[in-house]
Formats: sequence, C-alpha cells, structure tokens
Amino acid sequence: MKAIVTAARGSHLKPLTHTLNKHLIPLANRPIIFYVLDHISSSGIKDIGVVINENDTEIPSILGDGSRFGANITYIKQRGGTLGLGHVVKTAKEFLADEKFILYLGDNLLVTNLRSLIQRFEQSNANCMLALVKIPNPQRFGVPEFNGSKIIRVEERPIHPKSEYAVTGLYFYDSMAHTAADRIKPSQRGDYEISDIHTWLAQNGYNVDWVEVDGWWKDRSNPKDLLDGNKLILSIREAKSKKISQPQINKGVFIEPSVRIEGMVEIGQGSRIGGKTLIRGPVSIGEYCMIKDSYIGPYASIGNKTEVHGGSIEHSIIFDDVSISTGSKIVDSIIGSGSTISDKDFDMPKGNKIIVGENSNLAI
Ligand code: G1P
Repeated sequence: MKAIVTAARGSHLKPLTHTLNKHLIPLANRPIIFYVLDHISSSGIKDIGVVINENDTEIPSILGDGSRFGANITYIKQRGGTLGLGHVVKTAKEFLADEKFILYLGDNLLVTNLRSLIQRFEQSNANCMLALVKIPNPQRFGVPEFNGSKIIRVEERPIHPKSEYAVTGLYFYDSMAHTAADRIKPSQRGDYEISDIHTWLAQNGYNVDWVEVDGWWKDRSNPKDLLDGNKLILSIREAKSKKISQPQINKGVFIEPSVRIEGMVEIGQGSRIGGKTLIRGPVSIGEYCMIKDSYIGPYASIGNKTEVHGGSIEHSIIFDDVSISTGSKIVDSIIGSGSTISDKDFDMPKGNKIIVGENSNLAI
C-alpha cells in the first residue's frame, strides 16, 4: 500500500501561519507532520506521497527524501491552488496508480494502532474505510449519516449533523476513490470535498466501512488546540520515559549543579541551564538554549536557540530564537519565532495569556 499526506499551506491559525506552513508548527519541538510520517512509516507503509503547493520548496527541504522517517517520499505538486481534499486525491492519481492507499492529513494526530487498521482494511472487501470519532459538536467536520450501521452519506460541515461522529483525517481507499474523484463537482465554496467522494461511493453501491478511533487530535483553527497537541505529545513521551526515569539530556548540554530537574525533561544539544532554575517535566527544551534563574513547568516546549532569564513558563509553546526576560508568569501561550518578551512597568494579571505571531516584540 501507499500513503498520501497533505502538506499544502492553508490560511488557518493566523498569525502563526503568516510565515509558517501549519504542518511545520512544532509540538514538543517537532513539526506536526513529522509525527504523521513516523506513524505511517512505523505501520509498514514506506512509499509516501507528500502533496505540496506548486512552488513550495520549504517542505521538501525539511522532510528530505524520507530517510529520516525510514520511508521514501515523493513530492506531488498540487497545481491551481488548494482546491480541497478531493482534489488532493485527483492530484495523486498517477503516484497511486491502482494500489490501495491511505490518505492521512498532515495536521492530524491519531494515537491509534495504524498497522491493525491497515490489516483490517486489506482483509475486508470495503472500497473505503473512514476513521470516526464521537464528539459533542461535529458541525465543523465531515459527518456521516447512517442507516443502521451502514454509512449512506457524509455531509461536509452540516448545520444539523445526522450523527454524533466526525470523520477524522485518516482515510483508507481502493482505486474506486479515483472514479469517485472524477465524478464529484466542486462544492459551493469551490472545493472538491472529500466528503463528496464518500457520499458518491456510498450512493453508487460501494462499501464505505468505518472504524471508531479515540486519541484524535486536530487543530480546529484555534491556537489553544496546539497547546492540547503539545500536551498530548509530551504526555506520551512522559509515559514512555517512566521506565527510564532520568532526564533525556543530549550530549553537550551544560547544567550547573544549582539547577533542579524533575520528571521527564528533554534538553537538546548545546543548551546551557544555570542559576536557580527549576525544570519540572514533562518539558521539551531545544538545542542551543540558554536558561537561567527560571522556572520551566509542565507541558512547556521551548524551541531552539531560545533564551529565558528570570522567567516562569508553563503549558506553552515557545518557538525558536525567542528571548524571554520577564518575571511575569507565562501560561497557555504560544510565542512565534524571533519574539522578545521583556519586563516593563505595566500591570498585567498574573499568568499572562499570550498568542503572538512570528517576529513579534512584546514588553510586559
Ligand atoms: C477536512 C475534511 C473534513 C474532515 C477534517 C478532519 O476538513 O474536509 O471532512 O472531518 O478534514 O480533519 P479541514 O479540517 O481540512 O477543513
């Protein structure tokens, strides 16, 4: 089987995505799409087509040929703009030929046994299999309509959802997907909707199977979702590291004896931690950071080459090249690359909540 992964730029999550493709937003110091590629590769699928914008050179330069994920990546250019996931399937037709394949959205995280789902699909006679989750308000997603346990239709962003399920960003298909993709027309918003492919299959006598999964994370264009994604990844790493029960400190890290480190703490090479610093995991600190007299608390991810002096940070994502030198506590915050946050005579409530784009300059 082959896989296709979406990586074209969208306009969600501004301002963070003004200059950064959302698939490259770091969660626990790795771009979101890295987790997707790892997941696919570890399931046994090695032939991965990554669908990118026509002129994109950033994604290929970062993902490379796929060897770092133990896979082979082929870049597939989506010409004429991002015209929906149905268009992604059309675009990847040549790469996929007649093989069965999975489509995995590069901004979704599914904590599920992908290998066993692939086996289930391969052993079934289904033409398509959808990974569904039960959520309270599925309006924002594709929502299936059932007759008994059979999917008879999938509606994209329905006002009145016909079930409590949302279609996640993981799909399994046989070559009938290409026939369906050729039959569908653009929706009112001008996109070839993936949901219309599913409806076409269900209404033309093809078998649209489904599985319920849990452990799904997806940003709903809400920056706070990124904090949940960051927390999810750090929690998984914490659970894995329980057996090791010592910090994941890379070579070339310098830690002064006065520093206290508790729980799962990763520190990238070349970072220096000093003074009366307390780092309480789970925490991920990137490479070549400088942290002094600071508190870095649970679910904080600090990017590369970031400096924190006298700071206090919890449950936040700090990108690369950030400088923080404020005594005010930073919580539930996302701070883009190149930002500076320093002290100023200004009354702020304790526990600032900050969401700023790249190259911002804040004085607090
Ligand atoms: C897309 C699909 C939607 C699906 C969702 C899952 O929407 O159109 O049917 O439920 O992915 O992430 P998007 O989130 O790309 O707007």
